[in-house]
Amino acid sequence: MAIDHENVLASAGLSLPLLKILAENSFDSILITDNSKEGKIVYANKAFKKLTGHDPSDVIGLTPRILQGAGTDAKVTDRLRDVLKTGGKFEGKAINYKKDGTPFIMYWRVLPIKIGRNIEAWIAIQREGASI
Ligand SMILES: Cc1cc2nc3c(=O)[nH]c(=O)nc-3n(C[C@H](O)[C@H](O)[C@H](O)COP(=O)(O)O)c2cc1C
Repeated sequence: MAIDHENVLASAGLSLPLLKILAENSFDSILITDNSKEGKIVYANKAFKKLTGHDPSDVIGLTPRILQGAGTDAKVTDRLRDVLKTGGKFEGKAINYKKDGTPFIMYWRVLPIKIGRNIEAWIAIQREGASI
């Protein structure tokens, strides 16, 4: 049977494997947290390990605050906190720290993952930024 090119992406059975391939092979770091008050990490991809030095299996259950430190601009994280309250979108840059303590500029975007009106989780797309 010929492949229906218009509907192949809409096929229910394909969406999960497709998302897994995209996430695991993305050049950008991808971090997903739950929608709890603490915002616990439920998924990190291979590029997250490359960027931060943290093994995904070591950060599940922790919060992305593990990346922050003395140089992290509180104005940026305050803004993100407000976005998390209102269910909006965030994009910003701040100093973060790799597992070995090396500072770098994190440039990242955070978006809610919604089912209907409910926020089920949050996803961040992250990369090293050139300058603040
Ligand atoms: C999906 C997601 C990814 C996040 N990634 C980062 C990150 O890469 N670097 C960072 O400094 N903060 C990150 N944060 C922000 C912190 O987890 C936290 O929400 C922020 O610091 C505001 O809360 P606080 O004021 O209690 O610290 C992320 C938050 C979410 C929800």
